[in-house]
Amino acid sequence: MSSGSSNRKLEHIDISLREDVEGPLKTLLECVHIVHNAVPELDLSDVDLSLEFLGKRLNLPLIISGMTGGARGTENINAELAKIAEDVGIGLGVGSQRAAIEDESLRYTYAVVREYAPKSPILANIGISEFIRYDLSLITKIVDMVSADALAVHLNVAQELTQPEGSHTFKGFIKRLEVVMKELPVPLIIKEVGFGISKEVAEVLNGMGIKYFDVAGSGGTNWAKIEMFRARLRNDRVKERVASELLSWGIPTAASIVEVWNGAPKSTIIASGGIRTALDIVKSLRLGADLVGLALPLLKAYHYGTLQEYLAGLIKSIKALMVLSGARNVYELRKKPIIIYDPLKSWITQRDLKIP
Ligand SMILES: Cc1cc2nc3c(=O)[nH]c(=O)nc-3n(C[C@H](O)[C@H](O)[C@H](O)COP(=O)(O)O)c2cc1C
Repeated sequence: MSSGSSNRKLEHIDISLREDVEGPLKTLLECVHIVHNAVPELDLSDVDLSLEFLGKRLNLPLIISGMTGGARGTENINAELAKIAEDVGIGLGVGSQRAAIEDESLRYTYAVVREYAPKSPILANIGISEFIRYDLSLITKIVDMVSADALAVHLNVAQELTQPEGSHTFKGFIKRLEVVMKELPVPLIIKEVGFGISKEVAEVLNGMGIKYFDVAGSGGTNWAKIEMFRARLRNDRVKERVASELLSWGIPTAASIVEVWNGAPKSTIIASGGIRTALDIVKSLRLGADLVGLALPLLKAYHYGTLQEYLAGLIKSIKALMVLSGARNVYELRKKPIIIYDPLKSWITQRDLKIP
C-alpha cells in the first residue's frame, strides 16, 4: 500500500531535482565579509573543527539535513547519505517519519540509516501537525525507529498552508511540547524548513528548556516554490496562487542565525537553508552557528553520483578558509573581524541584535 505521504515524498524529491526550487530571497550571507588574514601564523593541520554533539564526537560541525525515507526506493538515498556521514564523521537527519506511522512497511526506508551509520548522531524527524496530534507512544516509536540521538520537530507551517492537502490547524504546539519534553528520553531540536526562526520564537522555546535549534532560513530550498509546482501539476490554480504569494516570505538564513543567537544564546544553533559553499559555512559559524546543515546540494550530489567528491572538496575548502581567517577553531573564528553590509546590517540594527 502506498500512502499519500509516500507519494508526496517522491513528488518533493522529483520536483527538487527537476525544477529551480530556490530563492527568490537570498540567505544574506553574501552581506558578511570576514577580513582576510595575510599572515595567519598557522598550518592547515592546526585547524580543528571537531566538536561534541548529542554526546558524540563529530570531525566537523556538519549535518546532512533531514530529507527522506518514506517511499520505496528512498532507502537507497538514506543508505548512501548514512555511509558518507559515518565515513566523514558528521551528523545525519532523516525526513518526516509520518509515512512509516501510516504504513509500517516503510520503516526500513528510515531504519537503514542506523545500519550504515552506527556511530553518527542521527536525528529523527516529525512535522508540527503530527507532533501536535500524535500521542507519546507514537513519538517514541519515531525515535526508536532510527535509534535516534534527538528528535527534530520541523515547523513547516508555511509549507502546510501552501500544500494542496496541507493542514490548517497549528494550535496546541506549546502545550504538547511541554508534555513531550518531560517524557522523551532524547532532546528535541526545533527546526524550520526554509522560512527561518526569529529571536522571539527562540526565546520562548529556550525558556521552556529547548536547547537545540536548526534555523533553516530563507535563501535555499523554498517550500512555497515546491508546493507551487505541485499545485500546478494538479491544475489547482487557487493553491498555486497561494503558494506563489508566499514565495518571498521568511527570515533569511544569516538573519535567522543572529536572531536565534540573540534569543537563545546558550543553545546549540544549526545554521541551514541555502548553505551552498564552504564560505557560507565559515560565515555561518562566525555569526554564531555551532553546526551547519545542508539538504538540497547533497540530494543533487547523490543523484549525480558526486557525493564523495562534493563533500571532500567542501571540507578541504572549509579548512583553507579557516587558515585564511587566522582561526584554528570556531572559538577563535568568532573573535575575527567582520564587515556586515546592507540589507543584513539594517536587519541587525532595526531588530536591535548583537553579533558575536
Ligand atoms: C527533497 C527534500 C525533502 C525534505 N524533507 C524534509 C522533511 O521531511 N523534514 C524536514 O524537517 N525537512 C525536510 N526538508 C528540508 C531540509 O531539511 C532543509 O531544512 C531545507 O531544505 C533547507 O536546506 P537547503 O536549502 O540546504 O535545502 C527537505 C528538503 C528537501 C530538499
